[in-house]
Amino acid sequence: MFLDIPAPMLQRMRELETTDREDRVDGTARLQRLRQVPPETGRFLALLAASSPEGSWIEIGTSAGYSTLWLALACRARHHTITTFEIMTSKSVLAAATFMAADVNDVVTLVEDDFLSYVDRLGDISFCFLDAEKEVYGPCYDAVIPRLVPGGLLVADNALSHPDELKPMLDAALSDSRVDALVVPIGKGELVCRKR
Ligand SMILES: C[S@@+](CC[C@H](N)C(=O)[O-])C[C@H]1O[C@@H](n2cnc3c(N)ncnc32)[C@H](O)[C@@H]1O
Repeated sequence: MFLDIPAPMLQRMRELETTDREDRVDGTARLQRLRQVPPETGRFLALLAASSPEGSWIEIGTSAGYSTLWLALACRARHHTITTFEIMTSKSVLAAATFMAADVNDVVTLVEDDFLSYVDRLGDISFCFLDAEKEVYGPCYDAVIPRLVPGGLLVADNALSHPDELKPMLDAALSDSRVDALVVPIGKGELVCRKR
C-alpha cells in the first residue's frame, strides 16, 4: 500500500503536527503559523495525485512542507516528482529542513518564489494543490486551469473553512465549463476540479 509511511517521514510529520497544534493555541502570529492541512486531507491529496494523468505536479503554498510529504508518498508510488512553491523565506527554510529530515529531496523540488511570477515557466500540469493566501486563489486558479492536461486535477484547500473569502473563485470553478468540479467535505473543505 503506497500510503505506508517510511519512518523518517513519519517522524517529521509527527513533529510538524505537534508544532501546528501548538501554533493554533499559543498566540503564534498568523503568518508565522504553519497552517497545514490535517492528516486526512494529506491522505486524500496523495490518493488524488497518484491517480492523476501524465504531466507535472505542483503545490502552491509549502509552509513547512507537511502537505508536500503526503504528496511525496504519491511521487514514490508513481516514480514522479513534485515542485512546491513558497513565497516566505522563513517557511522555505523550514521546508528545506523537512525535506532533508524526511529524505525526499529526490522527489521534491522547493522553489522559493511567488508562484504567480513563476507560472509562465511551467509546461503541462496534471496535478496542482493550491493552499496559499486567500487573495491569490483567484489568480492562481486562472493561471493553472489553462495549463491542466485533460483529466488533470486542481485541488484547492479551505473551500469550507473560508467560504466568504473564496466565494468568487469557488463560484467561478463550480460554473466553469472547462472543468468538472465539486467541494469535498474533508478537512477544511477541498475544491476538486478535473479538466474536461
Ligand atoms: C496555509 S499555508 C500552506 C500549508 C501547507 N500546504 C501544508 O498543508 O503544510 C500557505 C502558505 O502559502 C504561502 N504563499 C502565499 N502566497 C504564495 C504565493 N503567491 N506563492 C507561493 N507561496 C505562497 C504562504 O507563505 C504560506 O506559507
